[in-house]
Amino acid sequence: MTKITKDDLRSRKWFMNSENLEMTALYLERYLNYGLTRAELQSGKPIIGIAQTGSDLSPCNRHHLELSKRVRDGIIAAGGTCIEIPVHPIQETGKRPTASLDRNLAYLSLVESLFGYPIDGVVLNIGCDKTTPALLMAAATVNIPAIALSVGPMLNGWWKGERAGSGTVIWKAREDLAAGEIDTDEFMEIAAASAPSAGYCNTMGTATTMNSLAEALGMQLPGAAAIPAPYRERGQISYETGKRIVEMVWEDLRPSDVMTRAAFENAIVINSAIGGSTNAPIHLNAIARHLGVPLNNDDWQSLGHDVPLLVNMQPAGKYLGEDYQRAGGVPAVVGELIDAGLLPNPDALTVNGQSMGENCGTRRSLNDDVIKPVRNPVKHQAGFINLSGNLFESAIMKTSVISSAFRDAYLSNPDDPNAFEGRAVVFDGPEDFHHRIDDPAENIDADCILIMRGAGPKGYPGAAEVVNMRPPSYLLKQGIEALPCIGDGRQSGTSGSPSILNASPEAAEGGGLALVRNGDRLRIDLGKGTADMLVPLEELHERARELEAAGGYSVPPDQSPWQEIFREKVDRLDRGMTLKGADKFRDIARQFLPR
Ligand code: FES
Ligand code: MG
Repeated sequence: MTKITKDDLRSRKWFMNSENLEMTALYLERYLNYGLTRAELQSGKPIIGIAQTGSDLSPCNRHHLELSKRVRDGIIAAGGTCIEIPVHPIQETGKRPTASLDRNLAYLSLVESLFGYPIDGVVLNIGCDKTTPALLMAAATVNIPAIALSVGPMLNGWWKGERAGSGTVIWKAREDLAAGEIDTDEFMEIAAASAPSAGYCNTMGTATTMNSLAEALGMQLPGAAAIPAPYRERGQISYETGKRIVEMVWEDLRPSDVMTRAAFENAIVINSAIGGSTNAPIHLNAIARHLGVPLNNDDWQSLGHDVPLLVNMQPAGKYLGEDYQRAGGVPAVVGELIDAGLLPNPDALTVNGQSMGENCGTRRSLNDDVIKPVRNPVKHQAGFINLSGNLFESAIMKTSVISSAFRDAYLSNPDDPNAFEGRAVVFDGPEDFHHRIDDPAENIDADCILIMRGAGPKGYPGAAEVVNMRPPSYLLKQGIEALPCIGDGRQSGTSGSPSILNASPEAAEGGGLALVRNGDRLRIDLGKGTADMLVPLEELHERARELEAAGGYSVPPDQSPWQEIFREKVDRLDRGMTLKGADKFRDIARQFLPR
């Protein structure tokens, strides 16, 4: 289904520009200087970029350095030429203050690389949490043919005969440490055991979520998301991905053809079925904005909330990445959803040129304890709800991780089984939390709701994953394992905390959270979708005036030029935390030729 000829290739404007031979010579000579031949650059082979996110600085994605050899083999076999594009590194667990600060930086740099250089198509090396959205956002803006390739999850972690999931096991072990059940050495050994090989987090954290959703959006080959990094199939799918991108260039199949509103609707439903991370709405809303596709947190509730959880994976369930792969990965989940009539748009196009239904319609779970059938799910109604009230305009809650203990403690009110009240304990940022949480003077008890503010995109630039707060040690020792948490930051996808998070606008932008005080009574109604301070309006106005007179909600100073630029330009979490104004640049490779 060839749609373009070699004369239509973007790269011809660099390497075969008969109107400006001088520039053609200049462009050519430097790409020849490491051994490429004129024939490769001038005979009409598509130039395929490999957006390389693997590096020593990014251990989750490091295996891409290896896999890219197979991608290259595939590209060359299909008649393309490869140019590797270094992408600004993002390592979720290593970058301070938070890796999400750099999502937009990697986005910006990749947009410039794809747009400003002779690239006809691109393989997006996705993996660790923020690398996936950053690369899909850039592909959306530039809109040249693009295909995503996961690096794959790590092998399953094991500790004392039990599956030890990355991230998840740490949240659990820190509670055991705080309760005095393990010592520091054991804590560190447990952490190391959860990360046994190359690859990204083996839990259904943000990485597995976003890689699954890249496939759900149609941007990866079917089955490409779940294969663990060290498996032979990972190398094989890399080769197939390399081959396919060359065909996509000739077919002129672009991100805007694949990531349509229909694809996002599918992805929201699939996110519920896999038990996806609360970071997913932020990132998918961002990708959609860069494509001009309308998408907001109401869509997440209306399309996603009633969908059952099928994938029994930590933190909501039991298994890890290898089990997910062996049970059939994303195609099995999609097949089960199609079989039950729950996938809204089976006709949505994917990068292999087939529809979602054609790729996955007959696929089924190969292990129905790992990927459950719709008639017997892990949980019903596994999607998010979108709350609003005088605390914020929008905040997300992942109801699938509400434990039965939590349900009994907070949601068992017979008059109103979806509502609970509590006394606010307010923390201004994670440092404040760590200082005060174990101080008996705070008088925290089982009636409290913990508030984390100053942790949003502006407050803690990038929005910190700190809303999942543990109770004080003295409550943990009494067996109280979780308190409700509310915050304008994010929460790690590997955490199973029943938190209300991504609150927008954040305290640092004048959101209602800035007005909460210790001791305020709060009421959360999950049925009505409301979250409010039970404080008289006049009192709230008075607090707002006081806050304004004091110069507004204070945030720590910028520590780097990018932090300053980010804070000036960043939009709210519910709008995807994109850079304000960046979304007006769309389809730029077709609209413009670089000057
Ligand atoms: Fe990189 Fe989890 S820290 S994937
Ligand atoms: Mg994470």
